[in-house]
Amino acid sequence: MRIFSGIRPTGDLHIGNYIGSIKQWIDLQNENEGIYCIVDLHAITTPYSPKELQENILSQATSYIALGLDVEKCILFVQSSVREHSELAWLLGSITPMGDLGRMTQYKEKSKKHKEYINAGLLNYPILMAADILLYKIESVPVGDDQKQHVEFARSIAKKFNRQFGETLKVPSVKINKTGARIMSLQNPRNKMSKTDSGAGCINLFEDSTSIKKKIMKAVTDTGKTIKYDKVKKPGISNLLTIYSSFEDITIKEAEVRMKGKKYSEFKKEVGASLVEKLEPLRDRYIDLKSRRVYIEEVLKQGTKRARIIAEPTMIEVRRNMGL
Ligand code: TYM
Repeated sequence: MRIFSGIRPTGDLHIGNYIGSIKQWIDLQNENEGIYCIVDLHAITTPYSPKELQENILSQATSYIALGLDVEKCILFVQSSVREHSELAWLLGSITPMGDLGRMTQYKEKSKKHKEYINAGLLNYPILMAADILLYKIESVPVGDDQKQHVEFARSIAKKFNRQFGETLKVPSVKINKTGARIMSLQNPRNKMSKTDSGAGCINLFEDSTSIKKKIMKAVTDTGKTIKYDKVKKPGISNLLTIYSSFEDITIKEAEVRMKGKKYSEFKKEVGASLVEKLEPLRDRYIDLKSRRVYIEEVLKQGTKRARIIAEPTMIEVRRNMGL
């Protein structure tokens, strides 16, 4: 299967990004052809600093490799280095109904958050994401469930294009991690964990171990004493069970069995210990790779070349079928 996914190079990666998305990429990499993109053109639709953007791009590429992405097996590249993404986005824009864009949840959330920065790029964001996906004629898009609506949008645009201009684009399916599709904030387990979640609600992947343990111990839990998965009545405990089972690579049921009879504080201690045990070696690898800037830049350069080999023929076909 050919797979495509992307992450915005805005801020540090957190455990939600890892469980919802990157972990799936790594789990799928042996049997599939993965194409992974650092979506810098999406990152500029919310306030950003040009200088920091470059650093964030490199640090994100470094993170993926440290987390276990094998760049021999997959393609890793930066979105703006393959200009076909912008071109296809423009063309798809010409068949996108305006109304569909304003209804997107992410647009509504982001435009509420950045009232001073509501730009056309933010509105057109899903069109560029559809272009990312459709350029590579892929089968599957592994993402967290907040991105499901955007992948549905890409599917419907692909179908519309094919109806209007003849069979050209492949309609992909969305691949959501069954258990960790939405990791919640540790401080408010009814809200999604997000990069802008400052402080105790969010754990970054390469955060120091003491701080990770502290944040887990401080995580908001629920009334009662039993450690049982129940998203409605026990959102805090359910979130911790999800995080724990993802890092231990076991099912939620198995996690519940392991924690049976334990106090909340004992449970949290184990969750913290599990995260630290799994993340510490990854952090060491990240620190080591950080000093190999030239190598990372070369990986991205090679990724661009390989991505364009797939993207160019799609664009030739798209232009021809649209009469351009
Ligand atoms: P972004 O950068 O917001 O997030 C990257 C990935 O992490 C997932 N994610 C989560 N999963 C579980 N729990 C959470 N709390 C959590 N927070 C984030 C997201 O679902 C996503 O998979 N629009 C995309 C980037 C993009 C893209 C693409 C993705 C651009 N083009 C093409 C797939 C295919 C975004 O903003 O992701």
